[in-house]
Amino acid sequence: MVILRLPEEIERARKSNRIVAEVLNRLRDKVKPGVRTKELDRLAVEVAEKRGAQPAFKGYNGYPYALCVSINEVVVHGMPSERILEEGDIIGLDFGVYYQGFFGDAAITLPLGKVTDKALRLMRVTEESLYAGITQARVGNRLGDISAAVQDTVEAAGYSVVRDFVGHGIGKNLHEEPQIPNFGKKGRGIELKSGMLLAIEPMVNEGDYKVQILPDGWTAVTKDGSLSSHFEHSIAITDNGPEILSKLN
Ligand code: MF3
Ligand code: CO
Repeated sequence: MVILRLPEEIERARKSNRIVAEVLNRLRDKVKPGVRTKELDRLAVEVAEKRGAQPAFKGYNGYPYALCVSINEVVVHGMPSERILEEGDIIGLDFGVYYQGFFGDAAITLPLGKVTDKALRLMRVTEESLYAGITQARVGNRLGDISAAVQDTVEAAGYSVVRDFVGHGIGKNLHEEPQIPNFGKKGRGIELKSGMLLAIEPMVNEGDYKVQILPDGWTAVTKDGSLSSHFEHSIAITDNGPEILSKLN
């Protein structure tokens, strides 16, 4: 686990996450029916490299792309391909970089053109659950306060949180301690301290929480075929509360 102690350290964590946010902003403008998901991967690499940052996912545990593109029932780790985006899809974009010693990581889910009200609600609740979790990321709280806030928000809306993937500490490595499940109990787990860097990332299914991995070894889909949505921010815990490092403009 990385604990940021110096102002220049937090500034570097900010910078890498700002690049991630810039990439996601650019991708958001590009996401339209007719676009191939591989073109999104190419744009993500181009924007990151223009900033002097290295895409963090490519090569990580053998993952072959810079970007994860998770459409409809795909929960996370969907791979860019020749697939063409269609009106009515919802698309999760997850991106990370390494820049001057620090990793940044964030994800958003976007609608393609007109999508169903059901899909919009799922995305809205997922993002709300992320913010409910972030709000709990304060000095003196415990990790379980974040997890429980996410889970309560999701389940109150009638959805389920994925168990097989979790959020994580971030910093000098893409994944650091602690693991941050999107389910858990208030008051449990490690105490949160100033300077901790966390990537909180609820994955929310419309139906059952169970997922399965496709034969490509990466793509995680809902077992029941229901829609899934994913939002992620990297945050720093400060004495003044949580600071969202990967905030989009
Ligand atoms: N945001 C995801 C995570 O933190 C993305 C990782 S994709 C991988 O696990 F390819 F790098 F594994
Ligand atoms: Co992550």
